[in-house]
Amino acid sequence: MSEANIESILQEKRLFSPPTDFSEKAHIKNFQDYQQLYEKAKANPEKFWAELAETELDWFQKWDTILDWQPPFAKWFVNGKINISYNCLDRHLKTWRKNKAALIWEGEPGDSRTLTYAQLHREVCQFANVLKQLGVTKGDRVGIYMPMIPEAAIAMLACARIGAPHTVIFGGFSAEALQNRLLDAQAKLVITADGGFRKDKIVALKEQVDQALTNNGAPSVENVLVVERTKQKIHMEAGRDHWWHDLQQSVSADCPAEPMDSEDLLFILYTSGTTGKPKGVVHTTGGYNLYTHMTTKWIFDLKDTDVYWCTADVGWITGHSYIVYGPLSNGATTLMYEGVPRSSNLGCFWDVVEKYSVNIFYTAPTAIRAFIKMGEHHPKSRNLSSLRLLGTVGEPINPEAWMWYHKIIGNQRCPIIDTWWQTETGGVMITPLPGAISTKPGSCTLPFPGILADIVDLEGNPVSDNQGGYLAVKYPWPGMMRTVYGDPDRFRRTYWEHIPPKNGKYLYFAGDGARKDEDGYFWVMGRVDDVINVSGHRLGTMEIESALVSHPAVAEAAVVGKPDEIKGEEIFAFVTLEGNYTANDDLKNQLKQHVVQEIGAIARPGDIRFTDAMPKTRSGKIMRRLLRNLAAGQDVSGDTSTLEDRSVLDKLREGD
Ligand code: WTA
Repeated sequence: MSEANIESILQEKRLFSPPTDFSEKAHIKNFQDYQQLYEKAKANPEKFWAELAETELDWFQKWDTILDWQPPFAKWFVNGKINISYNCLDRHLKTWRKNKAALIWEGEPGDSRTLTYAQLHREVCQFANVLKQLGVTKGDRVGIYMPMIPEAAIAMLACARIGAPHTVIFGGFSAEALQNRLLDAQAKLVITADGGFRKDKIVALKEQVDQALTNNGAPSVENVLVVERTKQKIHMEAGRDHWWHDLQQSVSADCPAEPMDSEDLLFILYTSGTTGKPKGVVHTTGGYNLYTHMTTKWIFDLKDTDVYWCTADVGWITGHSYIVYGPLSNGATTLMYEGVPRSSNLGCFWDVVEKYSVNIFYTAPTAIRAFIKMGEHHPKSRNLSSLRLLGTVGEPINPEAWMWYHKIIGNQRCPIIDTWWQTETGGVMITPLPGAISTKPGSCTLPFPGILADIVDLEGNPVSDNQGGYLAVKYPWPGMMRTVYGDPDRFRRTYWEHIPPKNGKYLYFAGDGARKDEDGYFWVMGRVDDVINVSGHRLGTMEIESALVSHPAVAEAAVVGKPDEIKGEEIFAFVTLEGNYTANDDLKNQLKQHVVQEIGAIARPGDIRFTDAMPKTRSGKIMRRLLRNLAAGQDVSGDTSTLEDRSVLDKLREGD
């Protein structure tokens, strides 16, 4: 976030109370009710969560211990038996919701589909039987590399139904990135599509899968299941590749949900960290089901008549928790949209809101900033009066964007929930409850009941109001990640020992800088580690650097985030070349393309600057702070006392 934004946030004093008519009908109706819930949960978190687990979810067998906490490893609802696909589907079939729309889907080319709970259940059961037929059994990992089509959600629920942990890989990732994830998860099967529609193009997903598997690239993968979407010609490898619609013909729609242990692996989702290798964040069944269920219910204040739309991709945690599992566990109508605004239709989001009378809309600040740029006539020329609640996620929202959202999209009627959380936390942690908590533009306000969050220094001591520090969580919660897949030590080091534990007390280190104001409201400033946030997507700078240095021309690379008006941050790479290469625009473009190939288009550097040498400290460390300031176009002259060779800096500045 730029200094100007931080400055405006520090001065932000506006307060918006929940509208009375909203509060009257809300699950949590006023601040006192929130406080009571919060205090009750704080006094005895285990009891608080267990009561909700009992009343809100269906269990095949009750747990015998609520929480087994062997820091930093937690087990929730020990020995409980549950299945999240059962909670998302089967239990609703016994109610009037059987014929309620579970999933409304709008395709990019204008096709659409609505699945009731009964229909979704049927499809999931069939899909699960196909997986079984292909030899997938409980515990086997399944890779999902799909466009935003109903089959993506169906595949996830089918995996969950038979106890095969899924790992969804965002469809924008390259073959290389896909292969790394399949290898790490040792996936037995991959589910993909012949292609996906993206803007006015087709993304060749199957081709990427072929590439990832070529030359025995991921030997654990035995079968590939292909959903037909674009009908373009693709290669089908005999014996390995199968069309979903072919196999669907021969399976029954009867597939009882497998009773899973609460702590059985539900999914692995890879996310960027400070090293080159993405981490496989592990989520398990019972706690995740409860946490996503409760947060969806209270934060989005779900009503049975709501049409709820989260614009994320299912390839990210937001899609997992708040398109699929949270809403369906609550029996809601969740909307899935394949498209993105494109020059031929900048108002397409608002068309979707109008077409389906969307009540709850959840998106990223980057999207809002892009909407501002597109002009208010797009939303203003559509009927958005169905909207009653707006949300944001993924990055800090600047007060200007918040106000625009409030005025232009919400018509000053709709509360805004700015939800802070992470892949690792499973669900939202700090957020307004829309009927109870007054909002301030740019603040994610207060912790969800049961979440004990604080701002601390690196010793773990709380800092005073309005003093910046590190966002930390002081007690386990049901939706927390359980480990890094295959690397428990990394889990311990990254999240629980960054702030050294004292007297057996462990603090979860989120990697975000933040402050609390005099009302206890949280203001998240952004990452404090080598992770950058581009358009709400998390990227590790080391990951991009590794991609760059894998190109023969590159001797050394340093990547930093540069503030960007729309995307929040933009990728800025400093590169030194091997002796026999010449710095020119052509090479710049080649390097950008190389990163796209190694990781995916989301990691394409916005800018590359060639330099003869990196500014380093006397001990040889690249001075990233200095590079960040340079990238941001700031004055760095006062910044250089530890710099080894001043002439490097002078040259870098000349490159402006
Ligand atoms: C950032 C996305 C400010 C933060 C759900 C966090 C936010 C990272 C907010 C996690 C918010 C997410 N305000 N920053 N409301 N929400 N972040 O794992 O830096 O993709 O650590 O999860 O996004 O990104 P992730």
